[in-house]
Amino acid sequence: MRHLISPLDLSLEELEELLTLGQDIMNHPEKYAHVCEGKKLATLFYEPSTRTRLSFESAMLSLGGQVLGFSSADSSSAAKGESVADTIRVISCYADICAMRHPKEGAPTVAAMHASIPVINAGDGGHNHPTQTLTDLLTIKTLTGRLDHMTVGMCGDLKFGRTVHSLINALVRYPDVKFVLISPEELRIPSYLRKEVLDAGNISYLETDRLEENLPDLDILYMTRVQRERFFNEEDYIRLKDSFILDAAKLQYAKKDMYVLHPLPRVNEISTEVDNDPRAVYFKQAQFGVYIRMALIIKLLEVEIPC
Ligand code: NCD
Repeated sequence: MRHLISPLDLSLEELEELLTLGQDIMNHPEKYAHVCEGKKLATLFYEPSTRTRLSFESAMLSLGGQVLGFSSADSSSAAKGESVADTIRVISCYADICAMRHPKEGAPTVAAMHASIPVINAGDGGHNHPTQTLTDLLTIKTLTGRLDHMTVGMCGDLKFGRTVHSLINALVRYPDVKFVLISPEELRIPSYLRKEVLDAGNISYLETDRLEENLPDLDILYMTRVQRERFFNEEDYIRLKDSFILDAAKLQYAKKDMYVLHPLPRVNEISTEVDNDPRAVYFKQAQFGVYIRMALIIKLLEVEIPC
């Protein structure tokens, strides 16, 4: 039985297979409309979510399967003090696969240790968010045709942003990917990523607090919101929240074929005037999230794919 807890749980070969399957689902959704009939997906969300939970549910329904779950810790037995280990033992009797989001880093790992069904990490604290990464990779690969030889700018809250951490871990496996890490000094990437992933892998990266002057070099700009819920005090959040705002004027400095991604939700960091620019692909990205989650469910459930 396989789980997906970190983006590195998939080998490069498996990742490529998954992306190819995601693209086939995108082009021929009808082929996959019944492959999960009789199967159930449980969504166990202890933290707020719109896209991740609903795209998982949409993915399972589009495969002919069914869904059940809860969308806040308050509405589950966690509010009565039940442990993740006990909850997952029980959910294993009710569903064939589950997606879990939890504010504590490592909670999905604990769940996987006690589960008898595949567990998918749908975001654990400020740590990882592997299915967002799969979504981001499918978006970049579909739009640019590649995942190598590119300069990727990541901008915003690089300290608490789990989507950034997972995406860096995934992209360093491809040749000649350079990073421009744009954030306020206090919101730079965690030191374990800098030392154990970027420095250890001899990856080229720049840490800076300048967006405009680095824009012309970028092939991809990955914008993120400042993660209010992970701050220790509100004053720091208020001081840092509008550090970077991408607007039409700044976008003039970017390449004509650069793409702007954002895992969403957006707060203030991309002005709505950017939405109509052909380089803004964050809503398309949310759509890609359904296809790649369909592919992931198929793979983890090991259901047969029609030829
Ligand atoms: C992200 C998350 O939950 O980490 N959202 C998402 O799943 N698309 C990004 C965020 O909340 O800022």
